[in-house]
Amino acid sequence: MDNISNEASVIRYFCTAGSGMEQFVVDEVTRKLVAQDIERLQGKVLFSSSAHITRVKALKSAERLFLLLKRDSPLKLSAHANPARVASVLQSTLLGHRQEWTGAVMTWRRLQGVVADRTEASEGEELRGEEEENAGDFQIMKKRRKMDCGDDFTPGKCRDTTAPQANQHSVPLSFRISCKCSGSLSRCLSVWEVSKVLGGSLSGKLGWKVDLRNPHIEITVYLRDDYCLLGIPLTRLPLAHRCYIKTTGLRSTVAWAMAELAQIQSGFVVLDPMCGVGTILIEAAQDHKLSYFLGLDLDDGQLHKASENVAFAELGDRIHLIKASSNDMPLASASVDAVVCDLPFGRKFGTKTGTAAGLPLILAEMERVLRVGGSLVLLLSPQLSFVLKKILARHDPGQSNQERRSGSQGVTPTLTQGTEPPTGPTTEPCPPLASLKHVATRRLTLGAIDGLVHKYIKTHT
Ligand SMILES: C[S@@+](CC[C@H](N)C(=O)[O-])C[C@H]1O[C@@H](n2cnc3c(N)ncnc32)[C@H](O)[C@@H]1O
Repeated sequence: MDNISNEASVIRYFCTAGSGMEQFVVDEVTRKLVAQDIERLQGKVLFSSSAHITRVKALKSAERLFLLLKRDSPLKLSAHANPARVASVLQSTLLGHRQEWTGAVMTWRRLQGVVADRTEASEGEELRGEEEENAGDFQIMKKRRKMDCGDDFTPGKCRDTTAPQANQHSVPLSFRISCKCSGSLSRCLSVWEVSKVLGGSLSGKLGWKVDLRNPHIEITVYLRDDYCLLGIPLTRLPLAHRCYIKTTGLRSTVAWAMAELAQIQSGFVVLDPMCGVGTILIEAAQDHKLSYFLGLDLDDGQLHKASENVAFAELGDRIHLIKASSNDMPLASASVDAVVCDLPFGRKFGTKTGTAAGLPLILAEMERVLRVGGSLVLLLSPQLSFVLKKILARHDPGQSNQERRSGSQGVTPTLTQGTEPPTGPTTEPCPPLASLKHVATRRLTLGAIDGLVHKYIKTHT
């Protein structure tokens, strides 16, 4: 059991993260929470921090947040183990000492006490009544959003905020177990078996009561071939749920990570030339209060939702939306400090050939409006990434002029549209896109499909 005694102000947590997002979580907890003893696992990041719980709950790159109960090596079970052997391994590996569980619950209670706010709970009751009468009212949604932002810890908000049942001196603590078992272990163990053995042992050992419907705490168990992890969820909704977004577009954690890669600074003007409902702009604007954001999109429906989202997040003074094509942006050359863009692909937005065919022109426009030194961050499918690589290879400044000339023969003539006549120290004009220097590529999961985030820096005009 790790370092979660109630005396210690340093608390050990873990977060779940989408595949490919783990490094963003590591960087974020290091920077925002001064986290220590960080351990990165596949899909999880463990860390210790003494930061206030509200700051821990404000992490943007993680999916879910847990108080760490236990981290151990994987269960050693053969596929032919009999039930008695399974129960014995589960108990010896997962259970540990009584004090470890009681200590964890005291820490959980302490954290709960820090944020529990009865006023908010009663405001919630008031609001629910109001909502029934005025369904769809925007002001009420905004008020509701404020309430959601004060997220609670576990299932059963009212019980958490009043918490008489959780009192160790009266009613026994109630719990339920939620188990996720993967890899080869899932062939020799059922989640039902784990819940039964662990639940029975905790009831016997600690006098806690199983309550599947509305427990005080939930104990989450991850059993994998490379580790086992036990924790208590610290928020009712996933951290990835954003209380300030009305209509969701791109996964908010990914949108945040893209903005992070752009290294936005105070005073920057940041452009999303295919902004959809504005998720990237909103994620970026939430974290960068002294920067300005511009979103373009061709689609009226998307722009309408984006403007609703911007108003809902109260960011109308810093996010501006324009109906325009990313093929021909109504912007001066070198007028923005960063471009961040989630290009259309996948089932919802993609066409088989559309984006690939239009990519050279869109890239040329992005390059044109970006200032020298600015970042370009693009989210593409693996297929579009391949096309991007091919396009940029043709314009690699490392190639000789002869190579450039022969390489550019296959490029669509629309490439040069909208670009400024190049200037610079060389006598040979640089072809469009030659200024984009590759910095990094990260592969991320976007639900059913994967995406690749590419970062480029514009090196010259
Ligand atoms: C993948 S979606 C962006 C989703 C966005 N990141 C969000 O969170 O809502 C791509 C967007 O590009 C827009 N689009 C497609 N072609 C465009 C073009 N030539 N110019 C501007 N927008 C375009 C679509 O209308 C769509 O909203």
